[in-house]
Amino acid sequence: ADDDLARLAALVRTIPDFPQPGIQFRDITTLIADPHGFALATDLLAIRAARYRPDILVAVEARGFIFAAAMARVMGLGVVLARKPGKLPGAAIGVDYALEYGSDRLEMHEGMLSAGQRTVLVDDLLATGGTLLAAAELVGRTGAIAAAALCVIDLPDLGGAKRLADAGVPVETLIAFA
Ligand code: PRP
Ligand code: HPA
Repeated sequence: ADDDLARLAALVRTIPDFPQPGIQFRDITTLIADPHGFALATDLLAIRAARYRPDILVAVEARGFIFAAAMARVMGLGVVLARKPGKLPGAAIGVDYALEYGSDRLEMHEGMLSAGQRTVLVDDLLATGGTLLAAAELVGRTGAIAAAALCVIDLPDLGGAKRLADAGVPVETLIAFA
């Protein structure tokens, strides 16, 4: 299993100084282009997500959509989208948040989740945790439960896992880059 994770880590490409100087961008486009790597990441995420017994997955735009969609097919679940502002056609709720670089907002269609429903949040990468905290807040506003957050990559130096845990949302990640 350790070699599986090492294989995943080797498929992530690091691009220096994107989108701004000093950021070492961990790029998953090379991982998802590899059929074995993508299947491995999806299967490992689905196995871990299943332990939280979700009724539905919540996918974070943009790269979270890719992993959540593949997990949902493996798990037999549907997906609710947490989108960047102005993309959703129906009535939506929104939360603003700060990013490692800049700020943004996530929105979710009203009525997609119901009180007490168990969700697992999915994204590609955990940095400061601001994005997943915003997603968890959206879920919480509907009365549904953010049982956990699942990501392929953790950047532990940015402290996201602790912020999420402090907000009551355990985070599970497959690989880390310090
Ligand atoms: C990246 C990444 C996560 C988020 C992590 O997305 O895919 O969603 O940042 O950062 P955080 O833990 O500090 O919140 P980005 O905002 O670059 O958007 P994109 O996927 O739409 O390109
Ligand atoms: N890679 C991808 N997304 C990110 C990163 C990164 O290194 N940091 C913050 N969001």
